[in-house]
Amino acid sequence: MLHDERPSNRSGNRPFQDVLKASLSRRNLMKRSAILSATGFVSAVAGNGLVAETASAQSSRARRRYSGAGTASGSAGINFTPVSLAQGSSDSRVPHISPDYQYDVLIPWGTPIESGVPEYAGDPINRTNSVDQAKQIGIGHDGMHFFPEGGVSNTKGILCINHEFGRTPHVLGKALPESLEEVTTMEHAHGVSCVEIEKVNGTWQVNVDSPVNRRIHVNTPVEFSGPAAGSDLLQNPAGNEFLGTVNNCANGYTPWGTYLTCEENFNGYFNNAEVDQSNPGDDPALGEGSPLTGADSRYGVTATGFGYAWGGNNGTKWDPRFDTSNPDYVNERNRFGWVVEIDPSDPDAKPMKRTAMGRFKHEGVGMVVGKSGRAVGYMGDDQRFDYCYKFVSEGNWRSMLARGKHPLDYGKLYVAKFNDDNTGVWMEVTYSNPVIRDAVDENGQTLFRNQADVLCFCRVAADLLGATPMDRPEWVVPAPSGEMVWALTNNSRRTEADAVNKLAPNADGYILKTRDSDNYTGTTFTWEHYIFAEETHNDERSFSDPDGLWVDPDGRLFIETDGGQKNGLQDQCLVADVNDPTNIRRLFVGVSGDEITGVAHTPDRKTLFINTQHPGNGDPSATNFPAPTDGVTIPRDCTIVITKKDGGIVGS
Ligand code: FEO
Ligand code: CA
Ligand code: CA
Repeated sequence: MLHDERPSNRSGNRPFQDVLKASLSRRNLMKRSAILSATGFVSAVAGNGLVAETASAQSSRARRRYSGAGTASGSAGINFTPVSLAQGSSDSRVPHISPDYQYDVLIPWGTPIESGVPEYAGDPINRTNSVDQAKQIGIGHDGMHFFPEGGVSNTKGILCINHEFGRTPHVLGKALPESLEEVTTMEHAHGVSCVEIEKVNGTWQVNVDSPVNRRIHVNTPVEFSGPAAGSDLLQNPAGNEFLGTVNNCANGYTPWGTYLTCEENFNGYFNNAEVDQSNPGDDPALGEGSPLTGADSRYGVTATGFGYAWGGNNGTKWDPRFDTSNPDYVNERNRFGWVVEIDPSDPDAKPMKRTAMGRFKHEGVGMVVGKSGRAVGYMGDDQRFDYCYKFVSEGNWRSMLARGKHPLDYGKLYVAKFNDDNTGVWMEVTYSNPVIRDAVDENGQTLFRNQADVLCFCRVAADLLGATPMDRPEWVVPAPSGEMVWALTNNSRRTEADAVNKLAPNADGYILKTRDSDNYTGTTFTWEHYIFAEETHNDERSFSDPDGLWVDPDGRLFIETDGGQKNGLQDQCLVADVNDPTNIRRLFVGVSGDEITGVAHTPDRKTLFINTQHPGNGDPSATNFPAPTDGVTIPRDCTIVITKKDGGIVGS
């Protein structure tokens, strides 16, 4: 993904780095590290209290098939031969997969979802256009979920997939858009696709013209629900309708069969059309001040954004919704940064932005059913020094739906505070808390008028509560043990480091586990670290920057990476024992410049879907995947369909 290099959190809240450091020194990690380095990690691990505690805490349509080539001893459920470091760091123009597995390519960017629509297959000269792109698979494949037909099919269903982002050079072949048509093409390349896919003669394909096929993009009508739905903070002087979703990063899915798509770095798409956009960079954030006068700085809205220039460039105006110099659209940016619910079975239903879950840079939603049938969603706010959240529905999700109360509209939003003693507290983000209700800015002006304000400027409220600034929380997913597993991808802005604390700067990330009281619904939790990526760099497990996660029902933790891998590797998907970080095997390695993200599966888990995002960063001299290597064809984001050669469960 593209993310903000600059933190926006100036709350002064005690960062997780300090908590972790205190916890680790409590546990005498230094001594353990000495043992580990003297004897080798694997042999010493049996004596590693951290690990032992973790374990005990458990209480285009495919056309070609690619085969892994290349030996293994097994342990608990993960027996496949991994992609070796040597293999995984060879030719970066093509992916590498375990020799026990094979893969197909599905729905590359530009795949038509209706008949009569041309395919965009990576021609560097003749690009797609706004009309075609609205009926083609988008770019930036990210979070996704497979909804099997009848709830059970292993060969047919609806795949909902996020199209997080595509850079202008990748989509248009130029640095900046030069017309509204080009801006609209970019807008249509973003969003979500819902497509019926089916395994026919052993190969998965799109059922073109299935009535469920739909593209949702930046110009699709949407609705708002929940406490902030009627807020004046969501209304513009222009009176324009609610349209679109953008920067759809990770995802979630609900027990009632819907898809959740999460809006992450929405700020990067807003820009000041009066300003020259040719050098996007470190320009100051807009709108210092209270939420009611525009707390844009806390959300990172700047004059040049991430260089998309959708609002316009240097006085030429394109889409006014994204032009921060246009006062008629002053609140357009408040309409993004939400969790959006999509019903894959009803292509006519408008996507619904669920405001009770707060507005921030949503990574994804790890959803579970907790005590008394409550729906509980865990969420990361992915920016340096931002927070971990959870939402708990007011009651049993079934009875709420039966009473016409949507479980994601009524409930409590919490933000996490981590303590040094490996405990933590979930603090409710509510206007009824005087810390929030009575808060004023430097001019004595009230910050929040009601819960809608609190939800729209959730980060500001969470700052006041003293939430713990984290190292970029990415995916969070449930483990069968009842723990939640969090990827903290990295934070190179950490400044303190010493012999004990290897994590400042924390350039390579780590994985944490939490366990909540009261079957997910309580306000206290315990936490434990699972692994620091840095621990893996001297052995075959090597990975950095964990991002996408999934734990299967047997406790296999799938780890997907986004960032600078070591040892010559590209981004990758690994399979780990969620209770034993010594057991990590490399399943798949992507291509130059890409990110591996998104994970979905058939009910029998014999088909796994993952994505390669921004292969080659769009540069055909780096890779042409999924086309054969020709040095010319534009590489395209696509879904990778993974099966085991012996027909077994993927990851086994
Ligand atoms: Fe879109 Fe935080 O990754
Ligand atoms: Ca991510
Ligand atoms: Ca990432």
